Amino acid sequence: MIHPAKAKIVEVGPRDGLQNEKGVVSTEIKIDLINRLADAGVRVIEATSFVSPKWVPQMGDNSAVMAGITRHPAAVYPVLTPNLQGFDSAVQAGATEVAIFGAASESFSRKNINCSISESLKRFESVVSAASALEIKVRGYVSCVVGCPYEGAIDPNKAADVAKTLFEMGCYEVSLGDTIGVGNPATISRMIEACAKRVPVQKLAGHYHDTYGMAIANIYASLQMGMATFDSSIAGLGGCPYAKGASGNVATEDVVYLLQGLGIETGIDLAKLAVVGDWISSAINRPNGAKAGRALCTRNE
Ligand code: HMG
Ligand code: MG
Repeated sequence: MIHPAKAKIVEVGPRDGLQNEKGVVSTEIKIDLINRLADAGVRVIEATSFVSPKWVPQMGDNSAVMAGITRHPAAVYPVLTPNLQGFDSAVQAGATEVAIFGAASESFSRKNINCSISESLKRFESVVSAASALEIKVRGYVSCVVGCPYEGAIDPNKAADVAKTLFEMGCYEVSLGDTIGVGNPATISRMIEACAKRVPVQKLAGHYHDTYGMAIANIYASLQMGMATFDSSIAGLGGCPYAKGASGNVATEDVVYLLQGLGIETGIDLAKLAVVGDWISSAINRPNGAKAGRALCTRNE
């Protein structure tokens, strides 16, 4: 079996997780969560998003979150920016890395960011050129890479076309989102195969929601195809406000447990991470969605 020696975890819980919480999570809890994740060794923490507060009120405290965190010198704190307005606010708030987010499905693009795929790519071009002038790195996302809540199964070539456009535009990495968690190792592998023909596999990341419990299997399949970057969410927080029924991203604790078991280095302290997952679950009064997290915390009691 061929696996990379190291893998990068992009923690998306404070953004992808908390954007979907029904109740208001206080800015203090968000800041505390981000700081605790950095203490546990997480080095990429997607902190918030600079989107319209009318669309996603949960991220309305974006600038306050950015101002409140204690920046670990080795960590980066990317934020989502759908357009120039969001990018400018993110820069004002001190963001040093941003992410643009498109989709492989027309219907999802319209529901999520209120424009077609081609319009979105035009908007992203302005974000990427503004970012490059400031030497700010840009990550790209493609949503609905295997399935869409409105259109059903998605042709892998559609995901690959958007991934290629984002990469050629200047994104240093393209994260492939199984937004509604319908993928399995067969569909995910076919989709990666198509994307890897257009973007080097080392520049691709897996962003798998866990609706059908397939995310860990999908990561395992992705590792075998040479992918070494995975997005995950502490305690499995989250979902997507425009994808009804979608559960959160795969739990970071479960991913780290898998990678450690395979001898793949992440730099993350799993015992500390499990405590963070347990803490945030009780702080926002929801069950801990990380299986490894629950097991480790029970054992420590
Ligand atoms: P729009 O309504 O088409 O925007 O929204 P507009 O340009 O027509 O402007 C309308 C109003 O929005 C104006 O305010 C603007 O100022 C304001 P008004 O004059 O009416 O008071 N506005 C903004 N305010 C704050 N920040 C901004 C911004 N832009 C415009 N950046 C827009 C277009 C993209 C803004 C909107 O659709 C939006 O905010 N969507 C949010 C979508 C979102 O956050 N979705 C969740 C994240 S994506 C995701 O979860 C998937 C991912 O995890 C991968 C996966 O799982 O697949 C990444
Ligand atoms: Mg997501």
